[in-house]
Amino acid sequence: MKTIVSELSTTFTELYQQRPLLVRSPGRINIIGEHTDYNEGFVLPAAIDKAAYIAISLRDDNEIHLRAIDFNESFTVQVADLKPVRDKSWPNYILGSAAQFVKRGIKLKGFNAVLVSDVPIGAGMSSSAAVECASVFALNEALQTNLDRLTMVKMAQKAEHEYAGVMCGIMDQFASMMGKKDHVIKLDCRSLAYEYVPFKLEDIKLLLLNTNVKHSLASSEYNTRRKECETAVAWVKEHIGTVNSLRDVTEEMLDKFVLPKDGLIDQRGRYVVQEIERLLEGCVDLQRGDIQSLGGKMFKTHEGLRSMYAVSCRELDWLVDRAKENDAVIGARMMGGGFGGCTINLVQEKAIDNLIATLKPAYEAAMNLPLTHYIASIENGTEVIEQV
Ligand code: GLA
Repeated sequence: MKTIVSELSTTFTELYQQRPLLVRSPGRINIIGEHTDYNEGFVLPAAIDKAAYIAISLRDDNEIHLRAIDFNESFTVQVADLKPVRDKSWPNYILGSAAQFVKRGIKLKGFNAVLVSDVPIGAGMSSSAAVECASVFALNEALQTNLDRLTMVKMAQKAEHEYAGVMCGIMDQFASMMGKKDHVIKLDCRSLAYEYVPFKLEDIKLLLLNTNVKHSLASSEYNTRRKECETAVAWVKEHIGTVNSLRDVTEEMLDKFVLPKDGLIDQRGRYVVQEIERLLEGCVDLQRGDIQSLGGKMFKTHEGLRSMYAVSCRELDWLVDRAKENDAVIGARMMGGGFGGCTINLVQEKAIDNLIATLKPAYEAAMNLPLTHYIASIENGTEVIEQV
């Protein structure tokens, strides 16, 4: 973290001759509960040791000056002209966040910001939520607007909806902003009630394997899945008026009101209904310390995401299939929106080196793509950091 932060403050000072405020906001993992957040179900994410870092200071005029170290690019716009940018994506996460202040009637001043991140892009670790949360948090500090964290989570989510065009649920921004070291967050995405569950496993590590497949389909297919879920809910609601989301739906309701109409919509809804249940059972496993059982559920989640929800891809499936054959892997599944990115694996620590040494050449030969890996540790959420 030291090097990335010192590069950030040096770049900022060289560009703007000022000392900035520095904010770190992490990427996330999710143990179980995928595609459940926008269906008012539960999720079990955690913030990790990969993060976006933003350096910021207010200006005396109404100009926004942005610099992204990772892309070696700059972008400038007037506060009054805030709107989504078409030909680049990175400014949108910051501008979309800034726009939320304007929408709340807060007077936004011009500002300088430099961004750097070590959350891999397109890896399903929420690199965009990390930037949004860092931006909202940094602006809240700089403008002294005193917003609470939950409000900032919602603003960061809106930035993604309005400036990146992905109708994401609340999980990524919530995990980035609210993360707690060595704990996963059991979040009820309907009430937003949450609980920190200790997650420090003896001799077991969280290994992320990156397919290096960029999920180009992800945002359009993501929005399609959301609509398919809404269709399932609407069909049940025609018969049971109290149903408002898949959280309220049972498999019996799907049998009666959805399956006879459309097999595909039924599969989408059924996966979500099963996944919400699976997560709740997985939390009981965690409380009892039964990691084998939790791991088994992760494999089941992958199966559902692959065959029922149809958001996996052959590279993800390959990695999970190999993981399943290996006794040292307790659980594995694709993580995040899908169509590429990482698998998350619960692995015996002593077997990790061997596993990677075997998987890498095999994956590269089979897929003609590199396989990268990260051992994730669970860290705190968004925070101001000291200059180094
Ligand atoms: C993306 C979205 C989240 C969530 C996951 C799938 O990461 O941003 O809100 O829906 O996909 O669980």
